[in-house]
Amino acid sequence: MNRFENKVAIVTGGASGIGAAVCRRIVAEGGKVAVADVSGDRAEVLAKELGPAGFAVQFDAAEASSIEKMVEATVQHFGRLDVLHNNAADVSAPIQMGDTTAVDIDIAIWDRVMQVNLRGYLLGCKYAIPHIIRSGGGSIVNTASGAGARGDLVRIAYGVSKGAIYTLTKYVAAQYAHQGVRCNAVAPGLVMTPALEGSPPGMMEILKRHTLLEFGKPEDIAALVTFLASGEAAYITGQVYGIDGGLLMHNPMHADLKDYMEQAAAAHAAA
Ligand SMILES: NC(=O)c1ccc[n+]([C@@H]2O[C@H](COP(=O)([O-])OP(=O)(O)OC[C@H]3O[C@@H](n4cnc5c(N)ncnc54)[C@H](O)[C@@H]3O)[C@@H](O)[C@H]2O)c1
Repeated sequence: MNRFENKVAIVTGGASGIGAAVCRRIVAEGGKVAVADVSGDRAEVLAKELGPAGFAVQFDAAEASSIEKMVEATVQHFGRLDVLHNNAADVSAPIQMGDTTAVDIDIAIWDRVMQVNLRGYLLGCKYAIPHIIRSGGGSIVNTASGAGARGDLVRIAYGVSKGAIYTLTKYVAAQYAHQGVRCNAVAPGLVMTPALEGSPPGMMEILKRHTLLEFGKPEDIAALVTFLASGEAAYITGQVYGIDGGLLMHNPMHADLKDYMEQAAAAHAAA
């Protein structure tokens, strides 16, 4: 498949995990990609691997002027823009540790999470959309999260920022459809990237118990992102796709009921 021939994409948070898998897939399918990341060094490493189709741009999703410059640098380098994958999020350990509950959260943590994860996505759209329209239309894909679709015991800022991405996606889709810009989102569950690999062992067991399939790989998410970014998804806009191995679709008691039924069957067989 050469779905991205003559197409130029920006992938934010492109130097690691899901973003890096999307960059590789776009280039493998004939496209050019700006690996846009706060870590310029890691972006350079990936861009080098991708060859002339890769372009490293260091930027900070927390800063409006930095986002604008990153978009401009990409257009200057490749001459056009067709796809934006808004994907960067601040999932650093200090932010995750401090992102607790409504009462306990330090408001500086809340503000930081909203600044990078939500405002950063809006600003990506703000600066990229005029270029995408100039290129004759294209596609925006936002990385949301299953955490935006439910409540949880901790990480209130992360969850709310990701929930807002569901709505941002629909507003952007509604506002720019007539100018040829589609906007969709993916909502991953548990994907084996550095962010998840750092979880304590006991936590990994709980997460596994409640996921129907195995944990996802970055390439699983990249398959959906690139489908939505490509012309194959020409009739899809304003949608949020859960991609989580069955984490959120089942009865919340599923894992406990499964254990109960297995124990009941064993007791019956022993009687
Ligand atoms: N891994 C999962 O299980 C999972 C689940 C649901 C959603 N997500 C979402 O997927 C996206 C990618 O996460 P990942 O798991 O690949 O994480 P990752 O840590 O592997 O990659 C995140 C990238 O974002 C970059 N980044 C962080 N802050 C930035 C900033 N201020 N400006 C620019 N770049 C910045 C990092 O340097 C890193 O390269 C995130 O939006 C995350 O919330 C991940």
